[in-house]
Amino acid sequence: MKKIKLSMLLVLPSIGAFAADVAPVAAASAEPSVGLNSTEMLIVILLVFTVVLLVVSVALLNAFKVLYQEQLNPTPYTPPVKAQLVDYHTWLKKEQAKPSIWTKLLSLRPMEEEKNLIIDHSYDGIKELDNPVPAWFNILFLATVIFAISYLFYYEVSGYGDTQDKEYANEMAQAKIQNTAFLAKSANTIDENTVKLDNAPAIVQEGKSIFATNCAVCHGDKGQGIIGPNLTDDFWLHGGGINNVFKTIKYGVPAKGMISWEKNLDPKKISAVANFILSLHGTNPAGAKAAEGEKYEAKNPADNQMKAASDSVIVKKP
Ligand code: HEC
Repeated sequence: MKKIKLSMLLVLPSIGAFAADVAPVAAASAEPSVGLNSTEMLIVILLVFTVVLLVVSVALLNAFKVLYQEQLNPTPYTPPVKAQLVDYHTWLKKEQAKPSIWTKLLSLRPMEEEKNLIIDHSYDGIKELDNPVPAWFNILFLATVIFAISYLFYYEVSGYGDTQDKEYANEMAQAKIQNTAFLAKSANTIDENTVKLDNAPAIVQEGKSIFATNCAVCHGDKGQGIIGPNLTDDFWLHGGGINNVFKTIKYGVPAKGMISWEKNLDPKKISAVANFILSLHGTNPAGAKAAEGEKYEAKNPADNQMKAASDSVIVKKP
């Protein structure tokens, strides 16, 4: 036994040493952080297999050795210790005199009553005792049956309770409501720094109607400019691009006759009308007012007014 253990102690480290030898080679040949290639994988599998085989062989050898020695000089048979049986009987007597909760729970009957409990049949001499299942267990069993039936009725038959599918659908619907509420709220927190160029048809359309009611009197129905400047060209008095346009609309240029729209339009509406104005870029409407201000070049590609015009599907001059 000792010898085998010793030999195992000698063999295992040598396998480890071999593995350690292989590992650097594997690491060197593999592409960086790609893992093991198939040859290295094979080596690892073979190594693992070898180790398992070795352990099993050692265990088997050990078993054979024990059996062999048992053959040579068998361990003398020692009958089961009587003391344990005696102990059991004393325990049983005590138990019957004053049954523990466990015994009561199992509704075990005392040994003396056993002859009354024997059922009148035997199979190959094996007799059966009439030990009924404890009442609490039967009650529990019945309760589970009743529960199962009511559960089935509640969820599957009557449709009172929501099944998982339905619960999921409900929660998704609830989430959608919250999501729209959140989006509506967050849309109203936009300012000149966070406003985004968005030529989605719905937004441009909304902007168009806001423009028609509020702005067209001064800027013309096509943004060509009347009192206010032309909003369709490359030239801007206060800067082009979504952020500047938003800012001009929000704060206005009161001294020059363009009021601040902050109080009349919420941020979402200002954003929509600003996006509509950018969508007008390059439309060159009839009777367009002469360019005023400086030519605007977008520094930020997302801010590029040209893009808004070319992408826009809503407003395009034929
Ligand atoms: C009462 C007339 C009037 C109304 C109504 C009006 N504007 Fe103006 N707007 C002007 C004038 C005038 C200017 C030029 C200000 C300046 O010279 O600095 C101007 C400037 C602008 C500019 C800046 C143009 C540039 O070249 O930088 C934008 C953008 C603009 N208006 C958008 C709007 C929008 C959007 C509305 C409607 C919500 C609107 N305006 C309503 C008179 C008006």
